[in-house]
Amino acid sequence: MSNTDQLVRFESVSAGYGGVTVLDRIDLSLARGEVLAVLGRNGAGKTTLLNALFNLGPELSGRITVKGESVTNWPTHRIARLGLALVPQGRGVFHTLAVHESLRLATLARKPAGRSVSPSASPWTLDRVYREFPRLHERRLASSGALSGGERQMLALARALLTQADTIVLDEPSEGLAPLAVEEVLVHHVSRLAAEGLTVVLAEQNVAMALRVATRALVLSAGRMVFDGTPAALAADHALHQEHLGV
Ligand SMILES: Nc1ncnc2c1ncn2[C@@H]1O[C@H](COP(=O)(O)OP(=O)(O)OP(=O)(O)O)[C@@H](O)[C@H]1O
Ligand SMILES: [Mg+2]
Repeated sequence: MSNTDQLVRFESVSAGYGGVTVLDRIDLSLARGEVLAVLGRNGAGKTTLLNALFNLGPELSGRITVKGESVTNWPTHRIARLGLALVPQGRGVFHTLAVHESLRLATLARKPAGRSVSPSASPWTLDRVYREFPRLHERRLASSGALSGGERQMLALARALLTQADTIVLDEPSEGLAPLAVEEVLVHHVSRLAAEGLTVVLAEQNVAMALRVATRALVLSAGRMVFDGTPAALAADHALHQEHLGV
């Protein structure tokens, strides 16, 4: 893999809270265009891994590189400006704003023109978002708090796209969604976006869904990485499923 294809690299990254280690010496690399599923049971360290990438809370050691820049301990907004957007667990949308206002705010927050992260791709505009997510167009005057779980997840994803990020990091996007909404939001939209070249990291407890859209999967167990490989190899490893993913 050439350096330009490598978006993110963790070298022996440990992370914890209050002196307690939660992630233990994680090595990983993420290439442009991958859809990486980060799997593991409750408390395995999935959110901590994503938060480590954005320097959002955990105490860190080791080295994190994004697009060749050593970003360990950079402030979150500076890391995001390299073209990464996080959709946090629980979706983080402003409940009082109308959908349209929420999206418009996201366009204001985006990087100034001329510093586009992926100049080859066409930029995300409100029009393009409404074409990609017709449901958001139908609901544009509704307040964000009145949206269904699936619609709220689309709004959070659309807001992330409007920052012009080329890498979207989703923390348990299927949590609390009905099966049909999971299908529409995740399988349909994430697959389409990935096909257009977006890089996606997806922390999930819904292993079956994640493995349908992922090109690669990691499994965390008690803060250690116990698997890094293809979805097919993971699906075939019944012992690993039983030990580290089963309920
Ligand atoms: N802010 C925090 N302060 C202290 N401990 C924390 C904090 N956040 C997480 N932890 C602990 O770190 C461990 C890993 O938590 P993390 O949230 O990363 O797991 P997870 O895999 O995302 O779980 P879930 O699937 O439930 O979201 C857990 O033991 C958790 O209690
Ligand atoms: Mg979590």
